[in-house]
Amino acid sequence: MNDEAIGRLAELLREARNAVALTGAGISTESGIPDFRSPQTGLYATIDPMEYLSVDALNSRPEQFWKYFVEVFALPKAEPNAGHLALVRLEEQGYLSAIITQNIDGLHHKAGSQRVFEVHGHLRTVHCTGCGRTWPMEDASGQVQAGELPTCGECGAGVRPDVVLFGDQMPPAFQDAFEAAQSADLVLVVGSSLSVSPANMLAFQRNRLAIVNRDPTVADGAADVVIHGSAGETLTALVEELTGAGT
Ligand code: APR
Repeated sequence: MNDEAIGRLAELLREARNAVALTGAGISTESGIPDFRSPQTGLYATIDPMEYLSVDALNSRPEQFWKYFVEVFALPKAEPNAGHLALVRLEEQGYLSAIITQNIDGLHHKAGSQRVFEVHGHLRTVHCTGCGRTWPMEDASGQVQAGELPTCGECGAGVRPDVVLFGDQMPPAFQDAFEAAQSADLVLVVGSSLSVSPANMLAFQRNRLAIVNRDPTVADGAADVVIHGSAGETLTALVEELTGAGT
């Protein structure tokens, strides 16, 4: 474990007037959810995201889109891990004012984080492309598992998940997250390759940057502290360093 770097990161958090976390798929891999770009285990090692996770894929190949989306994202159930719980402690103790997440898995909410900006949406609901009505994701998953394309119970038009697909506009949560990152004086990136814009811009709206990530990221050179390692282990050690207690 990189004790010296954790000590430095703890110091940055103590000095920060307003720190936010920016998380990516890497904080959820220890909950059993694959990330996207890890060399062997990331989802993009086996699929082309434009073929399966774009607006075009949804519109032109809806059966393929929904089969993959429900199997890979909607159905799997996961629990928060030590990394999520450590961020809850940091928020409770006033070291973090918000969690900005690129993840749609809802695990920050499930762990108990209070101020969460889901900049790529979430898996809780779908909405109708015709009348705009919102439905629980479970309804759509049930239709897909019954071999049907999910449709609106109100007007019969097709529905779509409330996540940001490649080709989508960013949701209102992104503007809120942008403002939160702009008013922060420290951004703590956890488990993200920072390779997708505009979410990755949020890492640079600050005067200090810390990164906890297993692999190197494009922003390592600009960071005040970089720790290459497990999010769960590192954040747990960070909480102990700051509070002398476990998560
Ligand atoms: N601890 C720390 N870091 C980890 C762990 C772990 N247990 N597991 C994986 N990582 C790191 C990997 O090294 C990788 O650099 O997390 C990073 C995850 O990067 P990506 O897979 O690119 O995920 P993310 O940055 O969240 O992708 C952003 O891309 O496809 C879109 O919408 C999708 O929100 C996603 C966005």
